[in-house]
Parts: sequence; C-alpha cells; structure tokens
Amino acid sequence: MNLIKEKIEKLKKERNAVILAHYYEPLEIQQIADIVGDSLELARKSKNTDADVLVFCGVSFMGESAALLCPDKKVLLPAPNAGCYMADTITPDDVIKLKNKHPDSAVVCYINSTAATKAVSDICCTSSNAVKVVRSLKEDSVIFIPDKNLGAYVASKVTDKQFYFHPNGCCPIHDKLSAKDVEACKALHPDAEILVHPECSAEVCKMADFIGSTSQIIDYSKDSACGEFIICTEQGVTERMAMLMPEKKFYIPSEKQLFCDSMKAITLKMVASTLENMSGEVIVDSALREAALKPIERMLAL
Ligand code: 13P
Ligand code: SF4
Repeated sequence: MNLIKEKIEKLKKERNAVILAHYYEPLEIQQIADIVGDSLELARKSKNTDADVLVFCGVSFMGESAALLCPDKKVLLPAPNAGCYMADTITPDDVIKLKNKHPDSAVVCYINSTAATKAVSDICCTSSNAVKVVRSLKEDSVIFIPDKNLGAYVASKVTDKQFYFHPNGCCPIHDKLSAKDVEACKALHPDAEILVHPECSAEVCKMADFIGSTSQIIDYSKDSACGEFIICTEQGVTERMAMLMPEKKFYIPSEKQLFCDSMKAITLKMVASTLENMSGEVIVDSALREAALKPIERMLAL
C-alpha cells in the first residue's frame, strides 16, 4: 500500500470514520472507500453506519443529505465547494412559483438538489426509485424538479398523472449526450447493449436496452449475457465496470466525454487532509434541517 493510502487507513481508525463514494468519483477514490453506491444506497448506508465521522466523496448535495440524516455524526466533504450543476438550476423561489401555479400538485424533488429546495418540496426521489415514489402519491398531478429529463422518463411510466417541470432543470453532462453520439458508437459496436441513465434526454432514453440508476446499470451489465455495452452516464461508472468485469467491453458514446468535473474534484491527498484536520464539515441550520429532512424521510419510508 502506498504512503497516502496508509495514512488514510490510520486516520480512519483514529477518527472512527468511514469513507463513502459515489460511482462518479475517480476510480482511486472508489477503491479506498468503505461504501460505494448510487445516491439512494449512499443515503441509506450513511444513516446505518455506527461511525462517528462520514467522509463523503461526492458533491455538496450528497454531504448535505447525509448531514440531514445523521445529526449525531460529523459529515466532512473533501471538496466542499464542488456543487452539482443540476442542483443549481433551480431555487426555492422557482419551486414556490410552480406551486402557486399548480396548487393541487405534489412537489417531487430529485435528491440532486439543495437542502433549501428540498425544504419546499413534499417528497424526494432518486433515479432508482423515482417511478415508485410518484406512483405512491395520491395527487393526480406532480411538479417534478429539478430534472426535466428524469421527470419525462417517469412521466412515460406513470401515464395517469399530469406532470409539470422547471424548463432549465437538467444535468448538463447527461443532457449534452445526443442520439447522434449514441448512434455513432452503436455503428462501431453493433452488438453492444445501450445502457442509459434517466438524466439523459428522451431521444437517448428511446435508444436504450436498459434505463436505470448508476447501481442498476452496473447490476444489469453483470447479469446480462451480452459481452459489450455502450454506457450513457458519467464515465466513472464505465471505468468501474471495466475494472469489475475485465472480460466484458464498455464504451463511452461521446468524443466530448461524459465527465463531471465536480465529481472528479477529490484526490487521495484531499481525503487524507480532510481526516487529519477534520475539515470541510457540513453544517445545516436547524430550522432548514427540519423542513429539508421531511421529504427525504418520506422517501426512505416507502
Ligand atoms: P444515481 O447514482 O442515483 O444514479 O445518480 C446519479 C447522479 O447524478 C449523482 O449525481
Ligand atoms: Fe450533478 Fe450531473 Fe455532476 Fe451528477 S453528473 S453531480 S447530476 S452535475
């Protein structure tokens, strides 16, 4: 083991800490993490660990969600300024305006959002449970924020409800992937299955053999009899699959790359320094915590 990894291991024991990482993190960060998962798994597991300190290798909304769920633990972000572009596409004021326009609708808030946006929402969802969350609602109409692409995917599955979206809400990394990019990759690899994250546009979702969250995409490729896949999500997932399944082939369908610089902001050095200095703590104001926690807990109770 190299020196920096040894230092992280030692500090982890001293602090009674666990390291959580999303699949979009650099592979070397995923490899030192105790828990790697999609957004739902990370939220659930952060709540269930008995560590005193959670080092969250992900973007700020993920650390914030862990801090909301675990008020008795210290949640540290190695890159506290690494935000999510999608979360920043909507403000609580935008949500209130939508609510005033559609007062009988339930507000479903994708977990990729700030605590302030969650605080004005009725229930959260992640990409792995969004359809189930919306189906569970008694309301006939839904304001789905911030991601209009995930919202459109859910609307295609839940046809008995009316949906309203925020026009700017999307992940720029997923949204920029075009059907043409995927077609070009499929032309080079005609036998490959196309696996798509629902943050992609409807035109890309239409081409999919399978649509799911990051974890669901990984599990699908493990179970599939197919030996090659075109992966339409951030390339951290593609790199993880190539590491786990060296006998299969995985392709990134874009010359522009599918790279989230916020997710790639963390280095091993930053993880060591976070643990050493106990820096980057996520602090959520107690009034905001009460309001923002409700929609997350309502989702987890399902
Ligand atoms: P999932 O891991 O839930 O699929 O979410 C993807 C994502 O965009 C995280 O930022
Ligand atoms: Fe946010 Fe998109 Fe990056 Fe995920 S990939 S953290 S949704 S900007």
